[in-house]
Amino acid sequence: MKTSTMVTHTSSLKTTKRTHSAGELRANHAGEKVTLCGWVHRRRDHGGLIFIDLRDRFGLTQLVFDPEVSKKAHTAASDLRSEWAIQVHGLVRLRGEALTNAKIPTGAIELEVEELTILSTAKTPPFSIADDNIDVNEDLRLTYRYLDMRRGKILDHLRLRHKAIAAIRSYLDTQEFIEVETPILTKSTPEGARDYLVPSRVNPGTFFALPQSPQIFKQLLMISGLDRYFQIARCFRDEDLRADRQPEFTQLDMEMSFIEDKDIQAIIENLLQKVFLECLGVSITLPLRHMSYHEAVETYGSDKPDIRFDLKFINVSKVAEKSEFTTFKNELAQGGIIKGFKVPGGASFSRKDLDSFIEFVGKLGLKGLCWMKSTEEGISSNFLKFFPPEAEKELLTLTALEKGDIFIIAAGSRDTVHKGLDHLRRHIADKLNLIPPKQFSLHWVVDFPLFEKDPETGRLASMHHPFTSPKAEDMHLIDTEPLKVRAQAYDIVLNGYELGGGSIRIHDQILQEKVFSLLGLTPEDIQQKFGFFTTALQYGTPPHGGIALGIDRLAMLLANTPSIREVIAFPKTQKAADIMMDCPSPATTNQLQELHIKVNKK
Ligand code: AMO
Repeated sequence: MKTSTMVTHTSSLKTTKRTHSAGELRANHAGEKVTLCGWVHRRRDHGGLIFIDLRDRFGLTQLVFDPEVSKKAHTAASDLRSEWAIQVHGLVRLRGEALTNAKIPTGAIELEVEELTILSTAKTPPFSIADDNIDVNEDLRLTYRYLDMRRGKILDHLRLRHKAIAAIRSYLDTQEFIEVETPILTKSTPEGARDYLVPSRVNPGTFFALPQSPQIFKQLLMISGLDRYFQIARCFRDEDLRADRQPEFTQLDMEMSFIEDKDIQAIIENLLQKVFLECLGVSITLPLRHMSYHEAVETYGSDKPDIRFDLKFINVSKVAEKSEFTTFKNELAQGGIIKGFKVPGGASFSRKDLDSFIEFVGKLGLKGLCWMKSTEEGISSNFLKFFPPEAEKELLTLTALEKGDIFIIAAGSRDTVHKGLDHLRRHIADKLNLIPPKQFSLHWVVDFPLFEKDPETGRLASMHHPFTSPKAEDMHLIDTEPLKVRAQAYDIVLNGYELGGGSIRIHDQILQEKVFSLLGLTPEDIQQKFGFFTTALQYGTPPHGGIALGIDRLAMLLANTPSIREVIAFPKTQKAADIMMDCPSPATTNQLQELHIKVNKK
């Protein structure tokens, strides 16, 4: 096919096979001869004319096949089916006002086709590509992901993700950060999940671990004197999956030298401000709010509270103690707590609503819920009859219950109450539409404990990771009350999701070894697992710190979609599998032999 000599507009999308993209032609191109390539999106036969919508990544152009213009092209066009890839050459003409399609940018013109070349035919797709609003089973979408992406939604997400990463790279470049790639075949990094292991053929019986994050490498880069590092880093964690988790995911990983936490936070705030502005035109007001871990957990039951809506918890344990209610008394006697939150307007919840809430929290370990409502008829409740009048009065004052409100209460162990009420708070906010649409609420959570108790072993475990520095003012507690020591750690929360987390690191070898030993590592373990690192710390380590943001989570929230899989080109399923490639899959006997591995199938 010859290309037109009449083309006047050069475009960056011009290639040897096309003069323009399918989204590019406008009224001012009328009269030009052009060549386009793309897929058959829809076809309509109208008497003697055949209309095809030609689609590529950039848009749609209407093609007209008129036997009077080219009998050959018209005959060939009658064979065209959805998703065939074609090349067309012809004249751009105005559609006329009455036929203009205002819904698409190319709607003022159409292409009168003179030559048609079929580049590839296509089997009938397993789902409609043109009707992209039709819900398609996710497994089917993932099996044919390359076709799913033609439907446009994922492509839009990938565009947005690309824009966010481009904004990140350009901002960090202005701030003197250097992008460095770190190894994928490496040693275990303790981020709290299981490792993905890769067997070594060359060294029988030994394994690499895929990085859960580049944590140790970025600290080594600070020891190397890089001062400011970042990486759009792939991380691998074998952990239980959720809508916001993937076994392999991407972080914006950063580290800086000679800084304090507020320096890192300022960089992240400015970076996110730029990302939101460039991606969505949304302006984020800075500086962001800081909330202590203690306040977050006590008030919202979560270390990543969604503060776009209120429904704050009130601890009513003290007044509950004055009641005769055995449920409350028993929980308090066992060291539990009684807490609840007020839902303005919630007095209208029906018995059925309340039963559904009880069922909802039952799955989270709570045995039930108590409630009191203020209506026109007065106060009604399923527990107040056990409260002496004085205690009832005190409870009403404490909760500031007003007409139309309901106060919902849970009793149990601290963690169970917090977990149950946190989920219920979000469930009710959703049900009552309390979450303002299109609002982005970013805030920091700070002052995390350095350690937590591992519920299974009863041992100390790092709340972030073992490289996090304790707060200087809490150092005196490290031997006597380690659970009271706070960390120089910070998380950034966006609309109730943990978007990122980081810390100021330990840069002193002695303190690092002490933290390792508090975590239960023997001197031999330390030497074997981290000897290279504790050695490196002894060569003039600069004070340093950093953070990592979840890029997939960021893209998911920018795209306003509830699943991380919607912003990843080829995601894994909830069962950590790729159903398109059908992997993980068995290795051949030969491969296993080479790797010195015997599979023990149970
Ligand atoms: P952390 O483990 O908090 O910190 O991870 C940082 C951020 O990465 C994202 N993230 C995930 N995203 C998708 N799927 C997952 N499975 C997943 N796990 C984590 C989250 C999270 O906030 N090395 C430290 C950072 C540091 O201290 O600088 C780290 O990895 O958005």
